Amino acid sequence: MFIRNAWYIATWSDEIGQRPFARRILNEPIVLFRDASGAIAALEDRCCHRGTPLAFGEVVPGGIQCGYHGLVFDSSGRCVMVPGDHTVPPDAQVRSYPIVEKDEFVWIWMGDPARADRSLIFDYPYHNATTGWPHKHAVYHIKGGYMLVIDNLMDLSHLGYVHGGTVGGAPMTHVEAKMRTVRTPAGVRFDRWMIDSVPPPTYVKAVGFAGRVDRWQENEFFAPSTVIQWIGAVDAGTGTLRD
Ligand code: FES
Repeated sequence: MFIRNAWYIATWSDEIGQRPFARRILNEPIVLFRDASGAIAALEDRCCHRGTPLAFGEVVPGGIQCGYHGLVFDSSGRCVMVPGDHTVPPDAQVRSYPIVEKDEFVWIWMGDPARADRSLIFDYPYHNATTGWPHKHAVYHIKGGYMLVIDNLMDLSHLGYVHGGTVGGAPMTHVEAKMRTVRTPAGVRFDRWMIDSVPPPTYVKAVGFAGRVDRWQENEFFAPSTVIQWIGAVDAGTGTLRD
């Protein structure tokens, strides 16, 4: 069972080009494509004629054309052309999904379109500041329930055991971390401080810390499926840590 009236990240912006792009979201087959204006559309990936995945077709000036018998659907999912027929049946339609392209993410609303409030999507402007915030991105396919991934990201007590030789460091540093947890309008947030601690190997390699550090982690869960993590460290006693 899934939460339907929510925004989900469907793709990265650069995954969607002039070719139909298929992805299964909440166990529903979706096809995404850019129309002639560059706007992204998302439709049910199942032609209403004979059930062919629309991703097998191609993007055409009027929308997306099914690769089986050539019906064309516009970005609202309405059939706008039937080859060899001057009329289009009024109920020839596939489901369309609200889409917002923002901060290099493509967000999709999987529930009632009337409730798709784009103001609920959080801002992540750093993706737009390419000089100040260089970044790269990727997609990882995980053979497991998405809630287990959230559990992993929101419970950092595993860091000292699973990632001890990289970003984790000593297990007891995490066990003894000072914690603050608060409920937020869309989920939950926690901050962890590891004051005057031994830096983990990856931090030493990246920054060159010579001694102990004041280290922090800030994680926020935005229901139903997004987690943002911020981490950092400074030489012990030199930073300004919130409390
Ligand atoms: S199955 Fe799509 S046009 Fe026939």
